Amino acid sequence: MKIAVIGLGSVGRGVLETLAGKNIGLSVTGIADSKSGYIDPSGIDIKKVLMQKKKTGRCGDAGVTAMDVVREADYDILVEVSPTNATDGEPALSYMKTAIKRKKHVVTSNKGPIALAYKELKALAKKKGVALRHEATVAGAVPVFHTVEQGLAGNDIRAVFGVLNGTCNYILTRMAEEGLTYEQALLEAREMGYAEADPTYDVKGIDAAIKLVILANTIWGNGVTLDDVDRTGIDRLTPEAIRLAEEGDCTIRLIAEADKSSGLLRVSPRIIRKNHPLVVEGSLNAISIETDLAKEITLIGKGAGSIETASAIIGDLLFIAERYGRRP
Ligand SMILES: NC(=O)c1ccc[n+]([C@@H]2O[C@H](COP(=O)([O-])OP(=O)(O)OC[C@H]3O[C@@H](n4cnc5c(N)ncnc54)[C@H](OP(=O)(O)O)[C@@H]3O)[C@@H](O)[C@H]2O)c1
Repeated sequence: MKIAVIGLGSVGRGVLETLAGKNIGLSVTGIADSKSGYIDPSGIDIKKVLMQKKKTGRCGDAGVTAMDVVREADYDILVEVSPTNATDGEPALSYMKTAIKRKKHVVTSNKGPIALAYKELKALAKKKGVALRHEATVAGAVPVFHTVEQGLAGNDIRAVFGVLNGTCNYILTRMAEEGLTYEQALLEAREMGYAEADPTYDVKGIDAAIKLVILANTIWGNGVTLDDVDRTGIDRLTPEAIRLAEEGDCTIRLIAEADKSSGLLRVSPRIIRKNHPLVVEGSLNAISIETDLAKEITLIGKGAGSIETASAIIGDLLFIAERYGRRP
């Protein structure tokens, strides 16, 4: 199958490097970043483009936009990996809708459009007979949606609990390990490259809440929004609170939880037993799924990273290639 890749940052590069290094059977016919685009129906030389991007900051011609690639390139699957816009999902939302209207499958790591418009995109994809896959939007490399949809097929998913934000988890781990204040641990997280210059989305629990909305809507199709999430961040936690928890052989983690029967959607710092499966260290993510048949399943893994996130994208691409064959 042929793919077009929109966004050539950490994730886009990871996808292309993986395709260049492994014989996966997918060719790239379109590619775009914020400043340029490139279309070649006979297949793009990935290594050459990556080298050009590194040297010039552009992957293609300045006269070709990302929307030109989405509209005009000859591809089967659009890989949408441009930055997240949690306010209106744009311009990624328009890229996705345009591709689906052209009867192209969409694979994305972009949380904005999926959190804001999943129902609409899914309905459009169904109407056009194509797939919309977004494994990489929640917990990076961790294959939570594949697990729920394939591995746990036939189970009633009753609740989901997750440690979904690596930055918060890193800060909480360091506060517990070294007795650091929140401010000291945040500074360290910034120096390590885990926290953004503006960490608001992470430390106030907004990023975890967005992922919780995606989980709930994907698993139960209940059309919830960010406003439905009861949310408390970690930015007011004191070293004393952590020390008290540690004295009781517990610790504190930012837990995102969704419960099917009560409709509860909450992100908050929770005191949790140290030997609980959700107590993962550093920037790891973890998700526990409670079901009627399998009971509890916990998945742990890297929530971010170029190649790690590419793993989830490649999984979605190969799922589509297997399910839909050469052409939609
Ligand atoms: N990084 C991770 O570990 C991770 C994990 C899970 C999910 N995600 C999500 O995956 C997406 C990509 O993340 P990333 O870390 O790869 O981001 P990134 O490093 O910031 O790269 C973003 C890429 O998108 C391009 N871009 C910016 N505006 C664009 C536009 N209007 N149209 C087309 N392309 C545009 C940028 O172009 P230039 O190169 O010209 O600047 C850049 O190539 C985000 O939505 C992010 O939230 C990331």
